[in-house]
Amino acid sequence: MSRKIVVAGNWKMNKTAAEAEALVKELVGLVSDVCPCKAEIVVCPPFTAIAAAVKAAKGSNIKVGAQNVHWEASGAYTGEISVSMLKELGVEYVITGHSERRQYFGETDHTVHLRTAAALAGGFKVMMCIGETLEERESNRTAEVLDRQLEGGLGGFTAADMENIILAYEPVWAIGTGKTATPEMAEETHRHIRGKVRAMFGDEVAGKIRIQYGGSMKPGNAAELLACPDIDGGLIGGTALKADSFAELVKNAVSGSGC
Ligand code: PGA
Repeated sequence: MSRKIVVAGNWKMNKTAAEAEALVKELVGLVSDVCPCKAEIVVCPPFTAIAAAVKAAKGSNIKVGAQNVHWEASGAYTGEISVSMLKELGVEYVITGHSERRQYFGETDHTVHLRTAAALAGGFKVMMCIGETLEERESNRTAEVLDRQLEGGLGGFTAADMENIILAYEPVWAIGTGKTATPEMAEETHRHIRGKVRAMFGDEVAGKIRIQYGGSMKPGNAAELLACPDIDGGLIGGTALKADSFAELVKNAVSGSGC
């Protein structure tokens, strides 16, 4: 089954609104020849830079996402952001469950589920992140950890919900470290993830769901990663902070995927 690839930049806590505007304007020119029929290109700036990014991306093939969302519609949740606030800005995608949220901000499988459910109800496409730590991989617990994250994050969703879910497999030990999983290692894990989705939701959902790889993806390794049958895109940190390197990565990903 052919799946359209999705390559997203997760800017994390980087870029002011002015910097976002400049980056997206430059990116628009660099990726204008990438057909939206082949790849979805997404940038996920910090909340304060979303409006500028949406404005700069208007009319282009670049979509804008947010890095988080709260499950309540409004209320006393200092520091959080709601679905309606993001919708008003023109956001179309939301990241949930990033390992930095899990590691530094007490995010659990349950809160990831609540955020993901709220984002789906709000009509966003959700990139839900999962991944094991180095210690978990070395103690042969990768499959167990991913299964737990998938059950906790996705349990209770319907096949229709799953149409708007994208999974991002990000081995924690590969994020920002320059250590990428080898294509063989990544493919083996992606195959496991798709198998778990099949066990939970059946063949059709498993065949359709897109699974991004994330963790030190670069222009130089994007093509070989995307050539793997179960890798359908990337979630990119450091390399997404410069328009030229992100554009090169997007193009290499498209060519590697055979699109
Ligand atoms: P990296 O980050 O590309 O800088 O490793 C990926 C991510 O955390 O999404």
